[in-house]
Amino acid sequence: MKVTVVGAGNVGASCAEYIAQKRIASKVVLLDIKEGFAEGKALDLMQTATTLGFNTSITGVTSNYKATAGSDVVVITSGVPRKPGMTREELIGINAGIVKSVVENILAHSPEAIIVVVSNPMDTMTYLALKATGLPKNRVIGMGGALDSSRFKTYLSIALQKPANDIQGMVIGGHGDTTMIPLTRLASYNGIPVSQFLDSKTLEQVAADTMVGGATLTKLLGTSAWYAPGASVAYLVDSIVNDQKKMIPCSVLVEGEYGLSDLCIGVPCIIGANGVEAIVDVPLNDNEKALLQESASKVRVMNEALDSVL
Ligand code: 2OP
Repeated sequence: MKVTVVGAGNVGASCAEYIAQKRIASKVVLLDIKEGFAEGKALDLMQTATTLGFNTSITGVTSNYKATAGSDVVVITSGVPRKPGMTREELIGINAGIVKSVVENILAHSPEAIIVVVSNPMDTMTYLALKATGLPKNRVIGMGGALDSSRFKTYLSIALQKPANDIQGMVIGGHGDTTMIPLTRLASYNGIPVSQFLDSKTLEQVAADTMVGGATLTKLLGTSAWYAPGASVAYLVDSIVNDQKKMIPCSVLVEGEYGLSDLCIGVPCIIGANGVEAIVDVPLNDNEKALLQESASKVRVMNEALDSVL
């Protein structure tokens, strides 16, 4: 299986690293517009192969889309990341043009590829990729929910003082500080509702920390995060290339599901060889339903900024 990662910055390089280390695909192509940058990252990563014991071939190219031909999955991380104090939404103007041109170039060489969008604002960039290409909805996936859910589970494990992998939980809605919805009511510690162990004030704090999880890291690091975003993409790519059919919250086109349509927003999806194989209908309570509608309204407002690009 061949995976292309467009953008060899921190997120793209981490994603390539995890795909190789976890032996998810046999070939990874890293592409960047900065002369020699992807080549350098790929060479550095390949020099870890013998010590880490993987056989994935990682190649780096500068804007050479021919080298990406025949990719099964293409991850788009291109665009500028946010700086401290910036919202993901402020990146629309710059990133929309970049994402549109990347996705067109990609499809010219890999017409069958499944596209995973990471660039921010992620829900709007996913919608743009879908609308600009006319691809079927199963082939365009925004990865935000996978990342937000991993942050949610991390904060829960810290509050519970229990191992992270004993925690289950999902974040749906938009991938924005005010649009994501940690589903606290449904989160569990090995199947036991977390509300049995944590009081409502603590749970509210966990949800609040999750929502600004990316902003907290941007402030600490001076740029946006990369380990958890890269790992979340690799997790998603694994479910596609190895047809694992995992349930992962992803930003996908909704057509009536959850009472929403004509936007991409985070909902629980079955992710397999055909990309988005189903949207799972999780029964939400009235408050969660209202939050999802509010989140969708905010994502729709952002999507309006695409009028000049589409
Ligand atoms: C984040 O939340 C990069 O949007 C990404 O860290």
